[in-house]
Amino acid sequence: MASGSGDDEGNTTSASWRLVGPASELSKKPCRLMYSPLGRDSDVCLFYVKGQFFAMDARCSHSGGPLCEGDIEETDGVLQVFCPWHDYGYDLKTGKSGTSLEQQVYEVKLVDGDVYVKHASHLSLSPFPANEKN
Ligand code: FES
Repeated sequence: MASGSGDDEGNTTSASWRLVGPASELSKKPCRLMYSPLGRDSDVCLFYVKGQFFAMDARCSHSGGPLCEGDIEETDGVLQVFCPWHDYGYDLKTGKSGTSLEQQVYEVKLVDGDVYVKHASHLSLSPFPANEKN
Protein backbone atom coordinates (compact mmCIF):
# COMPACT_ATOMS: atom_id res chain seq x y z
CA MET A 1 0.00 0.00 0.00
CA ALA A 2 2.68 2.48 0.98
CA SER A 3 4.18 3.34 -2.34
CA GLY A 4 6.49 6.22 -3.12
CA SER A 5 9.02 7.10 -0.49
CA GLY A 6 9.14 10.78 -1.42
CA ASP A 7 12.90 10.92 -1.68
CA ASP A 8 13.04 13.81 -4.11
CA GLU A 9 15.93 15.27 -2.14
CA GLY A 10 17.92 12.06 -2.07
CA ASN A 11 19.93 13.01 -5.14
CA THR A 12 23.22 14.14 -3.65
CA THR A 13 24.83 14.96 -6.96
CA SER A 14 22.71 18.01 -7.77
CA ALA A 15 23.31 21.00 -5.57
CA SER A 16 20.81 23.84 -5.57
CA TRP A 17 20.64 27.22 -3.89
CA ARG A 18 19.07 26.78 -0.47
CA LEU A 19 17.57 29.70 1.40
CA VAL A 20 18.96 29.76 4.93
CA GLY A 21 17.59 33.02 6.35
CA PRO A 22 18.07 36.77 6.62
CA ALA A 23 21.64 38.03 6.65
CA SER A 24 20.74 40.51 9.41
CA GLU A 25 20.09 37.58 11.76
CA LEU A 26 22.76 35.19 10.51
CA SER A 27 25.49 37.80 10.85
CA LYS A 28 24.95 38.09 14.60
CA LYS A 29 27.08 35.01 15.34
CA PRO A 30 30.43 33.94 13.88
CA CYS A 31 29.07 30.47 13.12
CA ARG A 32 25.73 28.70 12.76
CA LEU A 33 25.24 24.99 12.40
CA MET A 34 22.90 24.19 9.54
CA TYR A 35 21.31 20.77 9.66
CA SER A 36 20.81 18.58 6.62
CA PRO A 37 18.11 15.92 6.36
CA LEU A 38 20.79 13.72 4.74
CA GLY A 39 22.38 13.22 8.17
CA ARG A 40 25.15 14.56 10.38
CA ASP A 41 27.87 14.12 7.78
CA SER A 42 26.02 16.55 5.53
CA ASP A 43 25.52 19.29 8.14
CA VAL A 44 27.16 22.58 7.25
CA CYS A 45 28.73 25.45 9.19
CA LEU A 46 27.77 28.92 8.09
CA PHE A 47 30.53 31.30 9.19
CA TYR A 48 30.25 35.06 9.27
CA VAL A 49 33.67 36.64 9.49
CA LYS A 50 34.81 40.13 8.55
CA GLY A 51 31.57 40.94 6.79
CA GLN A 52 31.53 37.78 4.70
CA PHE A 53 29.70 34.48 4.81
CA PHE A 54 31.43 31.13 4.26
CA ALA A 55 29.94 27.63 4.24
CA MET A 56 31.85 24.43 4.99
CA ASP A 57 31.08 20.87 6.04
CA ALA A 58 30.46 20.96 9.78
CA ARG A 59 32.36 17.77 10.68
CA CYS A 60 36.13 17.93 10.50
CA SER A 61 37.53 15.63 7.83
CA HIS A 62 40.18 14.41 10.30
CA SER A 63 37.97 12.70 12.91
CA GLY A 64 34.67 14.51 12.78
CA GLY A 65 35.30 17.36 15.21
CA PRO A 66 32.68 20.14 15.40
CA LEU A 67 34.13 22.99 13.35
CA CYS A 68 31.39 25.40 14.42
CA GLU A 69 33.01 25.37 17.85
CA GLY A 70 36.46 26.13 16.49
CA ASP A 71 38.41 29.37 16.77
CA ILE A 72 38.67 31.55 13.71
CA GLU A 73 41.95 33.32 13.03
CA GLU A 74 43.46 35.34 10.24
CA THR A 75 47.05 34.77 9.22
CA ASP A 76 48.60 36.63 6.29
CA GLY A 77 45.13 37.54 5.03
CA VAL A 78 43.89 33.94 5.14
CA LEU A 79 40.91 33.25 7.36
CA GLN A 80 40.99 29.83 8.95
CA VAL A 81 38.86 27.85 11.37
CA PHE A 82 40.76 25.64 13.80
CA CYS A 83 39.16 22.37 14.79
CA PRO A 84 38.60 22.24 18.56
CA TRP A 85 39.66 18.58 18.74
CA HIS A 86 43.18 18.50 17.28
CA ASP A 87 43.67 22.07 16.09
CA TYR A 88 43.90 21.49 12.34
CA GLY A 89 43.21 24.71 10.48
CA TYR A 90 41.03 24.99 7.37
CA ASP A 91 40.91 27.92 4.98
CA LEU A 92 37.35 29.25 5.12
CA LYS A 93 37.37 30.03 1.40
CA THR A 94 38.93 26.88 -0.02
CA GLY A 95 38.59 24.27 2.73
CA LYS A 96 42.30 23.45 2.40
CA SER A 97 44.48 22.78 5.41
CA GLY A 98 48.23 22.59 5.89
CA THR A 99 47.89 18.80 5.62
CA SER A 100 46.43 16.57 2.95
CA LEU A 101 43.04 16.96 4.59
CA GLU A 102 40.46 19.23 3.03
CA GLN A 103 36.97 20.34 3.97
CA GLN A 104 34.20 20.60 1.41
CA VAL A 105 33.16 24.24 1.02
CA TYR A 106 29.98 25.58 -0.53
CA GLU A 107 29.10 28.70 -2.44
CA VAL A 108 27.16 31.36 -0.57
CA LYS A 109 25.20 34.22 -2.10
CA LEU A 110 23.12 37.11 -0.80
CA VAL A 111 19.88 38.04 -2.54
CA ASP A 112 17.69 40.85 -1.22
CA GLY A 113 19.18 40.47 2.24
CA ASP A 114 18.75 36.70 2.40
CA VAL A 115 21.55 34.13 2.58
CA TYR A 116 21.58 31.17 0.18
CA VAL A 117 23.97 28.21 0.26
CA LYS A 118 24.48 25.88 -2.69
CA HIS A 119 24.02 22.40 -1.29
CA ALA A 120 22.62 19.00 -2.22
CA SER A 121 19.91 19.11 0.43
CA HIS A 122 17.65 21.51 2.20
CA LEU A 123 19.43 23.16 5.16
CA SER A 124 17.76 24.10 8.41
CA LEU A 125 18.89 26.02 11.48
CA SER A 126 16.87 23.58 13.59
CA PRO A 127 17.71 19.88 13.90
CA PHE A 128 15.57 17.43 12.01
CA PRO A 129 13.78 14.92 14.28
CA ALA A 130 16.03 12.05 13.11
CA ASN A 131 19.29 13.69 14.17
CA GLU A 132 18.05 15.85 17.03
CA LYS A 133 19.80 13.83 19.73
CA ASN A 134 23.21 13.62 18.09
S1 FES B 1 38.91 15.99 14.45
FE1 FES B 1 39.42 17.92 13.67
S2 FES B 1 41.56 18.02 13.80
FE2 FES B 1 41.05 16.05 14.53
